Formats: sequence, C-alpha cells, structure tokens
Amino acid sequence: MRQYRYFLVFICAALIVFGLAAYPAAARTSSAPAVFFVDTDIGVDDAVAIAWLMEQPRAEILGFTTVAGNTSNEHAARNLLTLFAAAERQYPVTIGASAPLELPATRTGALIHGPDGLWFNQNPTIDIGGLPGDAPAALAAAAAANPDLTIIALGPLTNIALAVQQYPAEMAGVRLVALGGARHGGNSTPVAEFNIYADPHALEVVLAGGMQLELVTLDAFDQVQVDVEKFPARLAQRGGAVGQLLAPALSGYFAVQQAAGPVKAAAIPDVAAVFYALYPQYGEARSALIDVVTVDDVTRGQTIIGLDIADRVPMIADDAELSALADQAFLPGFDLNAALFAILVREPDNAQVILDVHERTIVRQLERALTR
Ligand code: RIB
Ligand code: CA
Repeated sequence: MRQYRYFLVFICAALIVFGLAAYPAAARTSSAPAVFFVDTDIGVDDAVAIAWLMEQPRAEILGFTTVAGNTSNEHAARNLLTLFAAAERQYPVTIGASAPLELPATRTGALIHGPDGLWFNQNPTIDIGGLPGDAPAALAAAAAANPDLTIIALGPLTNIALAVQQYPAEMAGVRLVALGGARHGGNSTPVAEFNIYADPHALEVVLAGGMQLELVTLDAFDQVQVDVEKFPARLAQRGGAVGQLLAPALSGYFAVQQAAGPVKAAAIPDVAAVFYALYPQYGEARSALIDVVTVDDVTRGQTIIGLDIADRVPMIADDAELSALADQAFLPGFDLNAALFAILVREPDNAQVILDVHERTIVRQLERALTR
C-alpha cells in the first residue's frame, strides 16, 4: 500500500512539473487577423499551400524568404514570382540561404519536384537579379515591426536559424509554425522527414532559440491527402491561371509517388502547415521535449519527440545516471520520486508538436479555395 501511495505522489508531482515545464499552445481564436511571413523552398506542395494562403481574406502576408531545399534558393525565388504572376499578386521576396548551416545542400528534391521545383512549369525568363539577399534581416525586421507575427516555415530551417543567431532579441518569442520532423517514420529516410533531414543543425538552433515553435510533423501532414487524378483535373478545369500552373506541376509530383506502384491519393504536406497556422483549432498541439540527430549517418535528421514521463526521463538523463539511480532505488529511505522529479525539471519542453489534424476539413477547404 505504501508503494502505491508513493506512485500517486510521483504522478501528482510529475503533473505539476508538466504544468511548469509545459510549452504553451497557440491561441485558438479564429477571428483575429493573422499576420504572416513565409519562408519556403517552394516546390510543388509549397506552391499549392501558398496559393491557398493567398486566397484567405484573414491572412495578411508581409513577405517571403527562399531557402535551398526542394530546389535551389534561386529557383525558389523564380517559382514564387511565377506563382504570384499567375495569381496577379505581388509580395516582397528575399533570396535566402543556398546551403544548410553545416551540411552540403541536398539535391534529392529534384527527383520529387523536378529540377526547377515545379516540374518544368517555372517561368525561366523571370529576372531575380534585383531581389535582396539578406533573409535573416528580412525575418527579424518583420518580427520587430509586427508583435503578433507568425512565421511559417515550409522548408529547411536554415534562414530561421540564421535569424535566431544574428537577431536573437527580435526572434525570441516569435510564433513559428514549421513543417517538419516526425514522431514515427520518415520520408527522406525511414526515420527522418525531409526539411529536418536537409538541415538538422538548423532545428537544433531553433529549439534553443526561444521562439514559440509549433512543429507540424509527418504524422499530421501525411493525413492531408488528395485524389491524384481528380484534384489536378479540378484545378485545371476550375482553378483559373493558378490552377493552370499548379495542375501539371502536381501531376509530375504525383507521378513520382506512383513509381513504386499506383496510388489513388497522395499527401500535399505544406498545406497542413499553412492551414494550422491560420486555424490552429483544426490541429491537435501537444507540449513536447524534442531532440534531433545532427550526425550525418543513417539517423541524420531523426527527431526524438518526448510526450510523457517515460519518454522524457531517458532523453534528459543518460544510462549511467539512470543505472546509478536504479542501484539506489531499493535502499531504505531513498526517494525515487524526488530523483525522477529532479531529472524532469532539468529540461523543460521546447516545442508544441502537431501530430494530428482535421484532414477532411483541410482538404475540403483547400479545394473550395482553389476552384470556382
Ligand atoms: O517532408 C515534406 C516537406 O519537405 C515539405 O515542405 C516539402 O515541400 C519538402 O520541403
Ligand atoms: Ca517545402
């Protein structure tokens, strides 16, 4: 009976710790105007996501920065301007990082999005020569001038990490909705999602940078699937000039995903991030302790996402410490709960993770916004 009481004490203590260590979720209001700045490696799914965001009356988009990922930082700039021309809109574009913080830029995105990032649907004549090139400064300036800013990151976090390093005061506390990571699985390797795989060091910097990080993971975005035949066809028929641009790009993107065999539906990952950024009530955010593998081996880019006590304790204390604790656990008078409590409070949660979204609502709203 005594042990049972102890266990209850520990659980209560742990819940208090979680209260202290928990990482606050985004406000779930759905009426306030939302001010956004978008950082993107614009490939096909980014383009669909940005096309949707541009159509939202409540979304005020201040500007864009480009980052190497699906395609080069410069192709990404041309893709943005190609999309804006089709949508008859204009936004400031700054060309950002051409490579990750420490690793060489991956070029594998070309196999999924085509060499230009839009399966040869980019307007190659667009001149990007006059565009500014200081993405960290652009991000920090937007943050300093807009207290309620949300930065949406749709590619590797290189520009965000550089902004955190160069402008720590301006970036601290800024809401960052980033698409990336995975609690289970991966799409670049069996254990790593592409955006984090491409620049794992950038996530490491962002996790320590004091931003208000909300990570929309593979577990969530893989749920946002559309019919690979009907969706592009509807865009082509009823999507106007933007639909005429996106439809062939999507067909190329979906064709690659059928290389291993025909599929009826496929995910458009970045749509989940822009939708959640504007409507957080349509995602399930949970406080988490996140760690990331930066070693360039088979686990590169793996995100370890701790959600409960059993996850967190071994993420914080190594086996030597836990084994010493196990040796003492059965000695008279040793307080195991106090020892575990002392471990948990050493590393509070550092992010909100979104592992689940209301995918039916997202897909319905996506099609409604992009077709007439
Ligand atoms: O893993 C999906 C993410 O990687 C998306 O942002 C996609 O555009 C690629 O950047
Ligand atoms: Ca992307």
